[in-house]
Amino acid sequence: MAIDYTTWISLILRWLHVITGIAWIGASFYFVWLDNNLERPEKVKKGEADGELWSVHGGGFYHNKKYMSAPANMPTHLHWFKYEAYFTWISGFLLMAVIYYYGANLYLIDKSKMALESWQAISASIAMLAGGWVVYDLMCKSPLRKRPGLFAILLFVLFTLAAIVAGKIFSDRAAYMQIGAMIGTIMAGNVFFNIIPNQKIVVADLIAGRPVNPEFGKAAKLRSMHNNYMTLPVLFIMTSGHYPITYGSGVGWLSLALISLAGIAVRHYFNLRHTDKPKAPFVIAAVIFIIAAITFPLALKKPEPQNVGEVSFQEARQIINKHCTACHAPNPTHESFDEPQAGFRLDTDELIRQNKALILERTVTSKDMPLGNETGMTDAEREMLRVWIEEG
Ligand code: HEC
Repeated sequence: MAIDYTTWISLILRWLHVITGIAWIGASFYFVWLDNNLERPEKVKKGEADGELWSVHGGGFYHNKKYMSAPANMPTHLHWFKYEAYFTWISGFLLMAVIYYYGANLYLIDKSKMALESWQAISASIAMLAGGWVVYDLMCKSPLRKRPGLFAILLFVLFTLAAIVAGKIFSDRAAYMQIGAMIGTIMAGNVFFNIIPNQKIVVADLIAGRPVNPEFGKAAKLRSMHNNYMTLPVLFIMTSGHYPITYGSGVGWLSLALISLAGIAVRHYFNLRHTDKPKAPFVIAAVIFIIAAITFPLALKKPEPQNVGEVSFQEARQIINKHCTACHAPNPTHESFDEPQAGFRLDTDELIRQNKALILERTVTSKDMPLGNETGMTDAEREMLRVWIEEG
């Protein structure tokens, strides 16, 4: 049997992406936690630490100190945290290229939404990635940077608009991945183009004994705060691929917006945990947003009534033979595949009967099968499957 190179490459990239992502976000969570738990002296003397913390882990004791301005002597070994971010972005982009660009016809494009050629869809995706960064970067440099609350609201609205646009151009699942990639690009861009370069300037100034321009620190802080709040939404998107009830809800952008708000509220709760500010409202808000994400799309999605009458097993099987078995059989006839996709087969009566629930989930609830609706499955056919499964 021939080696399935694309699947192996995508598996290894995904593995790398998850590992580097954990390292990046793990470090980011750790430093927020550290900052929140520092024990701060009443008054900081010049050259002394602004806070310190003792912890125990893996059989040893750790003693961290934080200096807001410069320590009296710059240490010879200063550790930076940046490669985690860079490798997360690189592996993520390559993964997107292998799955969604190389397999654009299957994964990126949904011909029933927009009949794009591969190169058109790929260009649109890359343009949105770059455009997202450019717009965000300009916003950070504009007077908006002095109004962080307004900035955050505007950013959220722009992302939601981008999700609506992506939902019109790409397949439902690709639309989510597009937004996730845009958020990830902004986060990594912040590290690469701003946070690290600014920190380098500050360190160089400190070593040379020059006065430090506080603007560098402020700009890096704003972006680093945005990164902090974007982590939960982006992680949700990266796991949502297994949950068509979200991206395939019929109003995927709304599901995404509501779940992102829940994630942002949770993040905010953790950021406030060690302060005296009220925190409970953010937990309650997160729960409300999740309930809204579960219920709103169902209430909004009003499918056109399809009157299909009674449906026999023969009819259901015909639909499945027409739309599914090209990919879900021991020897798929689909040109892109040599093995049943997801190890899932629908080539016998028995298998069809056994897998009713899964068929219902992917063809009726979320409508993300057949993949990219390549075979042009109609709403009436979906309704026939539903009637056969639920009422037959
Ligand atoms: C063009 C190829 C293709 C066609 C046609 C297709 N699928 Fe799929 N299907 C896939 C791929 C690829 C996956 C794995 C990725 C995923 O889960 O989205 C998959 C996964 C699935 C899964 C998840 C299986 C599991 O155990 O996780 C179900 C259920 C499914 N398809 C049902 C269907 C049904 C029902 C049809 C026909 C209406 C259909 N598919 C048509 C390619 C296809």
